[in-house]
Amino acid sequence: MIILAPSILSADFGYLAEQMEETRLGGAQYAHLDVMDGVFVPNISFGMPVISCVRRHTDLFLDAHLMVTLPERIIPAVAKAGADMITFHLEATEDIPGCIRMIRQEGKKVGLSIKPKTPVSAILPYADDIDMLLIMTVEPGFGGQSYIESSTDKIRKARALFAQRGLDTDIEVDGGIKLDNVEVVLDAGANVIVCGSSVYGKDVLGNTKAFMEKFAAWEKKQA
Ligand code: DX5
Ligand code: ZN
Repeated sequence: MIILAPSILSADFGYLAEQMEETRLGGAQYAHLDVMDGVFVPNISFGMPVISCVRRHTDLFLDAHLMVTLPERIIPAVAKAGADMITFHLEATEDIPGCIRMIRQEGKKVGLSIKPKTPVSAILPYADDIDMLLIMTVEPGFGGQSYIESSTDKIRKARALFAQRGLDTDIEVDGGIKLDNVEVVLDAGANVIVCGSSVYGKDVLGNTKAFMEKFAAWEKKQA
């Protein structure tokens, strides 16, 4: 199943609950939460207090994307704030198995993310231990950037890597995904689609529906 994960980074935080509800009504299954520390990426977004508010206001599956150095410092707190899945960056810690273990101990799903310059082969030692691979399709830090074309090949490689191991692991893509290029990432093997500026624009409900219609058409084509 293809999942739409609208990134609240591009939402109007003054109307966050209402706008998230529009994405839910439009068919989105996840809310993607970008946590940035100003160190791992050159931007600061939000952390635990916002995640717990979001948790109180929505039933959407909370997909937390930690763009922070040493994620092990905050994984338990993000879990307790209400995230359903916690994705951390391979480049952000020396202790990847430890982070995976911490997330599992909290009873949450595990995501591992790689930046555009990190090869897919870097995830090989952890391929059997994660629920999702997040392939960054822009340099992390800001919404509204353009899709990096060389990402398509990385998605294909990741899908092949999992298939070779008999795994159907989720592949999430994040950055620069719009209605006119989403088919490219679906064709390559991505199935969890993060959309920031392309959903949280003027017509949140309409934008969400347009993506869900694209997904349905794409799935029909495969059948
Ligand atoms: C960027 C974040 C993204 C961002 C995507 O570092 O990880 O989730 O919100 O925004 P768009 O879809 O506008 O590129
Ligand atoms: Zn993200």
